[in-house]
Amino acid sequence: MSLAPNSTCFLARRKRLLKAIGDGVAVVPTAPERVRNRDSHHPYRFDSYFWYLTGFPEPEAVVVILGGDSPQSILFCREKNEEREIWDGYRHGPEGAREAFGFDAAYPIGELDQRLPELIADRAALWHSLGHDAEWDARIAAALNAVRAQARAGKRTPREIRDLRAALDAMRLVKDDGELDTMRRAAAISAAGHARAMRHCRPGMAEYELEAELTHEFRRRGAAGHAYTPIVAGGANACVLHYVENDRLLPDGGLVLIDAGCELDGYAADITRTFPINGRFSPAQKDAYEIVLAAQAAAIAAIRPGAPFMAYHDAAVRVLAQGMIDLGLLAGSVDGVVESEAYKRFYMHRTGHWLGLDVHDAGDYKEQREGGEWIRLAPGMTLTVEPGLYVRPAADVPAALHGIGIRIEDDVVVTADGGEVYTDAPKTVAEIEEVMREETLRHD
Ligand code: GLY
Ligand code: MN
Ligand code: MN
Repeated sequence: MSLAPNSTCFLARRKRLLKAIGDGVAVVPTAPERVRNRDSHHPYRFDSYFWYLTGFPEPEAVVVILGGDSPQSILFCREKNEEREIWDGYRHGPEGAREAFGFDAAYPIGELDQRLPELIADRAALWHSLGHDAEWDARIAAALNAVRAQARAGKRTPREIRDLRAALDAMRLVKDDGELDTMRRAAAISAAGHARAMRHCRPGMAEYELEAELTHEFRRRGAAGHAYTPIVAGGANACVLHYVENDRLLPDGGLVLIDAGCELDGYAADITRTFPINGRFSPAQKDAYEIVLAAQAAAIAAIRPGAPFMAYHDAAVRVLAQGMIDLGLLAGSVDGVVESEAYKRFYMHRTGHWLGLDVHDAGDYKEQREGGEWIRLAPGMTLTVEPGLYVRPAADVPAALHGIGIRIEDDVVVTADGGEVYTDAPKTVAEIEEVMREETLRHD
């Protein structure tokens, strides 16, 4: 069998990891299958770190990466099993997986505990995701103790246990070309889902009907599904940041906020759009919307190589603070509102996060040292830009703004000289009203 598509990029990543681990050994398990209730399982999702290094999709798999002069990647996976394959589907089996995914050796997963001590013996360092899974910590400890028990036979136990995730996080932070290509495709599918939701939106529909339009578009175009639980929040529900019930009716005259992105080949898109349920922004909605849009534009303009991670948040906050003053939500100066953090009443989250295999992706935000600074942006990093404005009804805020919740979220890749927005769903007031009008005409 020839190499699986793209397995060269996984080989290249394993090679890069070898540079970090020197002559150490890394043990990287995938995620377990998880029971949902009784004998029903959640849809299987591999572990992001394991996937990043292998592209191997099956559960019950572990890759052991040996550094040093003759580096090796060894896969442990399920054996072929005709009976189980009839019920549950294809299994590569160790030999098939070795060939298809470019491993140096492969063994049945049942042999892992027996082989692990000999694989980690005589290595200076063992790299493992310590502290993330108690069962795995115990398994690694058992392997270490098995080597210690052979001390008199001359076996040396690794003296150092190193944080594997820290090494991989640094790699995952800067996307390679294969990753960027997948993320762009995930973004295109997700943007199509948002446009579809806009076209199908009608007052009186349930929020879950719009969720269904997104799901339809994601699956129709080959995505695995949602990368995270989608938010479809009509009216004042948009002021609940993690609203996921999606079970209310969409009020005529209100806005709806949709935060949804698909997962494609393991990679997430993360898009939010907010639009008028009846297809036309009211003057107050438009004023508020334009402020969030301007905040997003200012944030995007602040993204460039060398800029500290927090710079684009700060840029968004200043525009939002001015907007809050203009709308009569706050009094005083921009500097005063920023300094006192009064803006947090209406904008209480950060303006974005790393994006990749995980929607809130791996990677530090601050340097890992005493007094460390914000990480500086570099080409190939991918992040979201998602300013918002959330006005809960209260006696001291203008009535026209009560219950307005707006967020606009796009995905950006840092380029050689700036930031490129690679999510393209209708966004300006004119674009949104145009898309929503198109469908109305077709239905009339
Ligand atoms: N959808 C999760 C987020 O926007 O951070
Ligand atoms: Mn989002
Ligand atoms: Mn986000």
